Amino acid sequence: MLRDEFGREFHYLRLSITDVCNFRCNYCLPEGYQGRPDAAFLSLDEIRRIATAFAATGTRKIRITGGEPSVRADLPDIICTLKEIQGIDKVVITTNGYRLPERIDAWHQAGIDAINLSIDSLDPAVFNAITGHDRLRELLEGLDRAIDLGIKTVKVNAVILRGLNDRQLDQFLQWIKAMPVTLRFIELMQTGDNEAFFKKHHFRGENIKQRLLAEGWREVQRDIDAGPAREFSHPEFRGRVGLIMPYSKDFCATCNRLRISSTGQLHLCLFSEHGISLRHLLQSDDQLPELLTFLRQQLGTKKISHFLQQGNSGGTQHLAMIGG
Ligand code: 5AD
Ligand code: SF4
Repeated sequence: MLRDEFGREFHYLRLSITDVCNFRCNYCLPEGYQGRPDAAFLSLDEIRRIATAFAATGTRKIRITGGEPSVRADLPDIICTLKEIQGIDKVVITTNGYRLPERIDAWHQAGIDAINLSIDSLDPAVFNAITGHDRLRELLEGLDRAIDLGIKTVKVNAVILRGLNDRQLDQFLQWIKAMPVTLRFIELMQTGDNEAFFKKHHFRGENIKQRLLAEGWREVQRDIDAGPAREFSHPEFRGRVGLIMPYSKDFCATCNRLRISSTGQLHLCLFSEHGISLRHLLQSDDQLPELLTFLRQQLGTKKISHFLQQGNSGGTQHLAMIGG
Protein backbone atom coordinates (compact mmCIF):
# COMPACT_ATOMS: atom_id res chain seq x y z
CA MET A 1 0.00 0.00 0.00
CA LEU A 2 1.22 3.51 -0.80
CA ARG A 3 0.78 5.60 2.31
CA ASP A 4 2.17 9.04 3.14
CA GLU A 5 3.42 10.56 6.40
CA PHE A 6 -0.04 11.90 7.15
CA GLY A 7 -1.70 8.48 6.97
CA ARG A 8 -3.34 9.07 3.59
CA GLU A 9 -3.57 6.01 1.32
CA PHE A 10 -3.47 6.14 -2.45
CA HIS A 11 -5.91 3.87 -4.25
CA TYR A 12 -6.46 6.06 -7.26
CA LEU A 13 -4.10 7.10 -10.06
CA ARG A 14 -4.73 9.86 -12.58
CA LEU A 15 -2.69 9.08 -15.65
CA SER A 16 -2.26 11.68 -18.35
CA ILE A 17 -1.52 10.21 -21.78
CA THR A 18 -1.07 13.46 -23.73
CA ASP A 19 -0.81 17.21 -23.12
CA VAL A 20 -2.43 17.99 -26.43
CA CYS A 21 -5.94 19.38 -26.42
CA ASN A 22 -8.16 20.44 -29.30
CA PHE A 23 -10.32 22.81 -27.18
CA ARG A 24 -9.52 26.33 -26.02
CA CYS A 25 -11.28 26.57 -22.67
CA ASN A 26 -10.83 30.13 -21.53
CA TYR A 27 -9.72 29.09 -18.01
CA CYS A 28 -7.22 26.53 -19.28
CA LEU A 29 -5.82 27.00 -22.79
CA PRO A 30 -7.33 30.28 -24.05
CA GLU A 31 -4.91 30.36 -27.00
CA GLY A 32 -5.27 26.62 -27.65
CA TYR A 33 -2.51 24.07 -27.21
CA GLN A 34 0.89 25.71 -27.72
CA GLY A 35 3.27 22.85 -27.03
CA ARG A 36 4.74 20.30 -29.40
CA PRO A 37 2.10 17.88 -30.61
CA ASP A 38 4.81 15.30 -31.37
CA ALA A 39 6.37 15.36 -27.89
CA ALA A 40 7.45 11.96 -26.56
CA PHE A 41 4.35 10.96 -24.63
CA LEU A 42 4.26 7.67 -22.72
CA SER A 43 4.21 4.58 -24.91
CA LEU A 44 1.77 1.74 -24.42
CA ASP A 45 4.54 -0.35 -22.77
CA GLU A 46 5.45 2.45 -20.40
CA ILE A 47 1.79 2.93 -19.51
CA ARG A 48 1.47 -0.80 -18.79
CA ARG A 49 4.55 -0.72 -16.52
CA ILE A 50 3.30 2.27 -14.57
CA ALA A 51 -0.09 0.68 -14.06
CA THR A 52 1.43 -2.66 -13.05
CA ALA A 53 3.56 -0.96 -10.40
CA PHE A 54 0.68 1.06 -9.02
CA ALA A 55 -1.60 -2.00 -8.97
CA ALA A 56 1.07 -3.81 -6.93
CA THR A 57 0.93 -1.03 -4.34
CA GLY A 58 -2.84 -1.07 -3.94
CA THR A 59 -4.12 1.22 -6.71
CA ARG A 60 -7.57 0.03 -7.75
CA LYS A 61 -8.72 2.77 -10.06
CA ILE A 62 -7.03 4.55 -12.94
CA ARG A 63 -8.39 7.65 -14.60
CA ILE A 64 -7.09 8.41 -18.07
CA THR A 65 -6.68 12.16 -18.57
CA GLY A 66 -4.97 14.61 -20.90
CA GLY A 67 -4.88 17.29 -22.33
CA GLU A 68 -7.62 15.54 -24.22
CA PRO A 69 -6.95 11.79 -24.10
CA SER A 70 -8.95 11.04 -27.25
CA VAL A 71 -6.44 12.85 -29.46
CA ARG A 72 -4.37 9.67 -29.13
CA ALA A 73 -5.37 7.15 -31.79
CA ASP A 74 -4.31 4.24 -29.56
CA LEU A 75 -6.72 5.21 -26.76
CA PRO A 76 -8.81 2.00 -27.11
CA ASP A 77 -5.58 -0.06 -26.82
CA ILE A 78 -4.62 1.89 -23.72
CA ILE A 79 -8.00 1.17 -22.13
CA CYS A 80 -7.68 -2.56 -22.97
CA THR A 81 -4.14 -2.72 -21.61
CA LEU A 82 -5.12 -1.09 -18.31
CA LYS A 83 -8.19 -3.32 -17.97
CA GLU A 84 -6.01 -6.44 -18.25
CA ILE A 85 -3.82 -5.51 -15.30
CA GLN A 86 -4.55 -7.56 -12.24
CA GLY A 87 -5.80 -5.50 -9.33
CA ILE A 88 -7.13 -2.61 -11.43
CA ASP A 89 -10.90 -2.75 -10.94
CA LYS A 90 -11.90 0.47 -12.65
CA VAL A 91 -10.59 2.20 -15.73
CA VAL A 92 -12.26 5.55 -16.28
CA ILE A 93 -11.69 8.60 -18.44
CA THR A 94 -12.15 12.36 -18.41
CA THR A 95 -12.87 13.79 -21.85
CA ASN A 96 -14.01 17.00 -23.51
CA GLY A 97 -16.31 14.90 -25.67
CA TYR A 98 -14.85 15.83 -29.06
CA ARG A 99 -16.46 13.42 -31.59
CA LEU A 100 -17.82 11.39 -28.70
CA PRO A 101 -20.70 9.79 -30.67
CA GLU A 102 -18.17 8.23 -33.07
CA ARG A 103 -15.78 7.14 -30.36
CA ILE A 104 -17.74 5.97 -27.37
CA ASP A 105 -18.54 2.50 -28.76
CA ALA A 106 -14.85 1.63 -29.15
CA TRP A 107 -14.11 2.77 -25.56
CA HIS A 108 -17.03 0.73 -24.33
CA GLN A 109 -15.81 -2.35 -26.20
CA ALA A 110 -12.35 -1.81 -24.74
CA GLY A 111 -13.93 -1.97 -21.29
CA ILE A 112 -14.19 1.59 -20.00
CA ASP A 113 -16.05 1.61 -16.66
CA ALA A 114 -17.02 5.26 -16.39
CA ILE A 115 -16.71 8.56 -18.17
CA ASN A 116 -16.51 12.15 -16.98
CA LEU A 117 -17.56 14.56 -19.66
CA SER A 118 -16.88 18.29 -19.43
CA ILE A 119 -19.93 20.40 -20.26
CA ASP A 120 -19.52 23.95 -18.98
CA SER A 121 -22.88 25.16 -20.25
CA LEU A 122 -26.11 23.76 -21.65
CA ASP A 123 -26.53 26.90 -23.74
CA PRO A 124 -24.77 26.36 -27.10
CA ALA A 125 -23.60 29.98 -27.37
CA VAL A 126 -22.17 30.05 -23.85
CA PHE A 127 -20.60 26.63 -24.38
CA ASN A 128 -18.93 28.01 -27.50
CA ALA A 129 -17.77 31.14 -25.70
CA ILE A 130 -16.10 29.08 -22.95
CA THR A 131 -14.56 26.22 -24.96
CA GLY A 132 -14.05 27.80 -28.38
CA HIS A 133 -16.16 25.05 -29.97
CA ASP A 134 -19.72 24.89 -31.18
CA ARG A 135 -20.06 21.25 -30.23
CA LEU A 136 -22.60 21.11 -27.43
CA ARG A 137 -25.06 19.06 -29.48
CA GLU A 138 -22.41 16.50 -30.33
CA LEU A 139 -21.46 16.14 -26.66
CA LEU A 140 -25.05 15.63 -25.58
CA GLU A 141 -25.52 13.03 -28.29
CA GLY A 142 -22.38 11.23 -27.09
CA LEU A 143 -23.63 11.40 -23.52
CA ASP A 144 -26.95 9.78 -24.49
CA ARG A 145 -25.05 7.07 -26.31
CA ALA A 146 -22.87 6.38 -23.25
CA ILE A 147 -25.98 5.96 -21.12
CA ASP A 148 -27.64 3.73 -23.77
CA LEU A 149 -24.54 1.52 -23.90
CA GLY A 150 -24.99 0.95 -20.18
CA ILE A 151 -21.73 2.56 -19.07
CA LYS A 152 -22.27 2.41 -15.34
CA THR A 153 -21.14 5.83 -14.23
CA VAL A 154 -21.53 8.91 -16.34
CA LYS A 155 -20.58 12.23 -14.79
CA VAL A 156 -20.66 15.71 -16.19
CA ASN A 157 -18.13 18.35 -15.10
CA ALA A 158 -18.99 22.03 -15.22
CA VAL A 159 -16.54 24.69 -14.06
CA ILE A 160 -18.68 27.48 -12.65
CA LEU A 161 -17.54 30.91 -13.77
CA ARG A 162 -18.82 34.21 -12.42
CA GLY A 163 -20.42 36.24 -15.20
CA LEU A 164 -20.22 33.41 -17.74
CA ASN A 165 -22.34 30.47 -16.58
CA ASP A 166 -23.13 31.14 -12.91
CA ARG A 167 -26.63 32.29 -13.88
CA GLN A 168 -27.30 28.90 -15.48
CA LEU A 169 -27.38 26.80 -12.33
CA ASP A 170 -31.17 26.54 -12.68
CA GLN A 171 -30.91 25.23 -16.21
CA PHE A 172 -28.31 22.67 -15.10
CA LEU A 173 -30.45 21.52 -12.17
CA GLN A 174 -33.61 21.27 -14.30
CA TRP A 175 -31.68 19.07 -16.70
CA ILE A 176 -30.82 16.43 -14.08
CA LYS A 177 -34.44 16.06 -13.01
CA ALA A 178 -34.67 13.39 -15.71
CA MET A 179 -30.99 12.76 -16.57
CA PRO A 180 -29.37 9.93 -14.60
CA VAL A 181 -25.97 11.61 -14.34
CA THR A 182 -23.92 13.15 -11.57
CA LEU A 183 -23.41 16.79 -12.40
CA ARG A 184 -20.29 18.13 -10.74
CA PHE A 185 -19.87 21.83 -10.26
CA ILE A 186 -16.15 22.57 -10.08
CA GLU A 187 -14.83 25.69 -8.44
CA LEU A 188 -12.33 27.47 -10.68
CA MET A 189 -8.73 26.97 -9.56
CA GLN A 190 -6.00 29.50 -10.04
CA THR A 191 -3.08 28.23 -12.11
CA GLY A 192 0.12 29.93 -13.26
CA ASP A 193 -1.48 31.18 -16.49
CA ASN A 194 -4.97 32.27 -15.49
CA GLU A 195 -4.49 34.75 -12.65
CA ALA A 196 -6.44 37.66 -14.18
CA PHE A 197 -9.18 35.33 -15.41
CA PHE A 198 -9.38 33.75 -11.97
CA LYS A 199 -9.79 37.11 -10.24
CA LYS A 200 -12.62 38.04 -12.58
CA HIS A 201 -14.49 34.75 -12.74
CA HIS A 202 -13.89 32.82 -9.53
CA PHE A 203 -17.25 31.78 -8.05
CA ARG A 204 -17.36 30.18 -4.63
CA GLY A 205 -18.65 26.61 -4.49
CA GLU A 206 -19.90 27.34 -0.98
CA ASN A 207 -22.62 29.57 -2.53
CA ILE A 208 -23.87 26.61 -4.54
CA LYS A 209 -23.81 24.36 -1.50
CA GLN A 210 -25.96 26.77 0.54
CA ARG A 211 -28.42 26.99 -2.30
CA LEU A 212 -28.68 23.20 -2.69
CA LEU A 213 -29.25 22.70 1.02
CA ALA A 214 -31.97 25.38 1.01
CA GLU A 215 -33.69 23.59 -1.88
CA GLY A 216 -33.84 20.20 -0.15
CA TRP A 217 -30.66 18.52 -1.44
CA ARG A 218 -28.89 16.28 1.10
CA GLU A 219 -25.29 15.15 1.21
CA VAL A 220 -24.61 11.42 0.57
CA GLN A 221 -21.74 9.10 1.65
CA ARG A 222 -18.59 8.81 -0.51
CA ASP A 223 -16.90 5.62 -1.80
CA ILE A 224 -13.35 4.85 -0.61
CA ASP A 225 -11.92 5.54 -4.08
CA ALA A 226 -14.20 8.51 -4.72
CA GLY A 227 -12.78 11.75 -6.00
CA PRO A 228 -12.88 14.94 -3.97
CA ALA A 229 -16.49 15.75 -4.86
CA ARG A 230 -19.09 16.02 -2.12
CA GLU A 231 -22.27 14.49 -3.47
CA PHE A 232 -25.86 15.55 -2.97
CA SER A 233 -29.14 13.89 -3.87
CA HIS A 234 -32.76 14.98 -3.96
CA PRO A 235 -35.83 12.71 -4.07
CA GLU A 236 -37.32 14.57 -7.04
CA PHE A 237 -34.20 14.37 -9.21
CA ARG A 238 -32.81 11.36 -11.09
CA GLY A 239 -29.38 12.94 -11.26
CA ARG A 240 -27.08 13.89 -8.43
CA VAL A 241 -24.97 16.95 -7.82
CA GLY A 242 -21.28 16.86 -6.92
CA LEU A 243 -19.38 19.85 -5.60
CA ILE A 244 -15.64 20.17 -5.99
CA MET A 245 -14.42 22.93 -3.74
CA PRO A 246 -10.62 22.92 -3.71
CA TYR A 247 -10.52 26.07 -1.58
CA SER A 248 -12.55 24.56 1.23
CA LYS A 249 -10.85 23.74 4.52
CA ASP A 250 -9.64 20.13 4.73
CA PHE A 251 -9.94 19.49 0.97
CA CYS A 252 -6.53 17.81 1.06
CA ALA A 253 -7.23 15.67 4.15
CA THR A 254 -9.06 13.06 2.08
CA CYS A 255 -6.57 13.10 -0.80
CA ASN A 256 -6.39 9.54 -2.15
CA ARG A 257 -4.82 10.08 -5.56
CA LEU A 258 -1.52 10.50 -7.32
CA ARG A 259 -0.84 11.81 -10.79
CA ILE A 260 1.45 10.90 -13.65
CA SER A 261 2.04 13.38 -16.45
CA SER A 262 2.05 12.39 -20.10
CA THR A 263 5.85 12.34 -20.08
CA GLY A 264 6.09 10.05 -17.09
CA GLN A 265 6.55 12.51 -14.23
CA LEU A 266 5.04 11.62 -10.89
CA HIS A 267 3.13 14.56 -9.37
CA LEU A 268 2.41 14.14 -5.69
CA CYS A 269 -0.06 17.02 -5.89
CA LEU A 270 -1.88 18.83 -8.69
CA PHE A 271 -0.07 21.95 -7.54
CA SER A 272 3.38 20.58 -6.79
CA GLU A 273 6.39 22.64 -7.87
CA HIS A 274 7.56 19.99 -10.32
CA GLY A 275 7.16 16.37 -11.27
CA ILE A 276 9.53 13.53 -10.42
CA SER A 277 10.58 11.65 -13.52
CA LEU A 278 9.88 7.92 -13.53
CA ARG A 279 10.83 7.40 -17.12
CA HIS A 280 14.27 5.87 -16.48
CA LEU A 281 12.45 3.17 -14.49
CA LEU A 282 9.93 2.38 -17.23
CA GLN A 283 12.21 0.98 -19.88
CA SER A 284 11.90 -2.74 -19.14
CA ASP A 285 9.62 -5.06 -17.18
CA ASP A 286 12.60 -6.09 -15.02
CA GLN A 287 12.70 -2.65 -13.42
CA LEU A 288 9.47 -3.21 -11.50
CA PRO A 289 11.11 -3.75 -8.06
CA GLU A 290 13.23 -0.60 -8.48
CA LEU A 291 10.20 1.39 -9.55
CA LEU A 292 8.25 0.23 -6.50
CA THR A 293 11.05 1.22 -4.12
CA PHE A 294 11.31 4.61 -5.78
CA LEU A 295 7.56 5.24 -5.53
CA ARG A 296 7.49 4.40 -1.82
CA GLN A 297 10.43 6.74 -1.16
CA GLN A 298 8.84 9.60 -3.06
CA LEU A 299 5.55 9.27 -1.20
CA GLY A 300 7.43 10.17 1.97
CA THR A 301 7.87 13.69 0.56
CA LYS A 302 4.18 14.42 -0.13
CA LYS A 303 3.10 17.62 1.58
CA ILE A 304 0.02 18.00 3.73
CA SER A 305 -1.82 20.54 1.54
CA HIS A 306 -1.78 22.28 -1.82
CA PHE A 307 -1.54 25.73 -0.14
CA LEU A 308 -3.87 27.12 -2.83
CA GLN A 309 -5.49 29.43 -0.30
CA GLN A 310 -2.15 31.23 -0.07
CA GLY A 311 -2.18 31.75 -3.85
CA ASN A 312 0.26 28.90 -4.52
CA SER A 313 -0.17 27.22 -7.89
CA GLY A 314 3.19 25.45 -7.85
CA GLY A 315 4.57 24.76 -11.30
CA THR A 316 1.13 24.21 -12.77
CA GLN A 317 0.63 26.70 -15.61
CA HIS A 318 -2.71 25.19 -16.63
CA LEU A 319 -4.47 21.91 -15.91
CA ALA A 320 -3.93 20.54 -19.43
CA MET A 321 -0.34 19.98 -18.23
CA ILE A 322 -1.42 17.39 -15.73
CA GLY A 323 -5.04 16.49 -16.46
CA GLY A 324 -6.82 18.19 -13.56
N1 5AD B 1 -10.10 25.12 -12.50
C1 5AD B 1 -11.06 24.20 -12.33
N2 5AD B 1 -11.29 23.19 -13.20
C2 5AD B 1 -10.52 23.13 -14.30
N3 5AD B 1 -10.51 22.26 -15.32
C3 5AD B 1 -9.53 22.60 -16.16
N4 5AD B 1 -8.88 23.71 -15.71
C4 5AD B 1 -9.49 24.06 -14.55
C5 5AD B 1 -9.30 25.11 -13.58
N5 5AD B 1 -8.34 26.03 -13.72
C6 5AD B 1 -11.47 21.15 -15.42
C7 5AD B 1 -11.92 20.83 -16.80
C8 5AD B 1 -12.31 19.37 -16.71
C9 5AD B 1 -11.51 18.86 -15.54
C10 5AD B 1 -10.52 17.82 -15.90
O1 5AD B 1 -10.84 19.97 -14.99
O2 5AD B 1 -13.02 21.58 -17.22
O3 5AD B 1 -13.67 19.20 -16.45
FE1 SF4 C 1 -8.72 21.09 -23.11
FE2 SF4 C 1 -9.73 20.27 -20.76
FE3 SF4 C 1 -8.12 22.42 -20.89
FE4 SF4 C 1 -10.59 22.54 -21.94
S1 SF4 C 1 -10.06 22.23 -19.75
S2 SF4 C 1 -8.70 23.31 -22.92
S3 SF4 C 1 -10.86 20.52 -22.74
S4 SF4 C 1 -7.52 20.33 -21.35
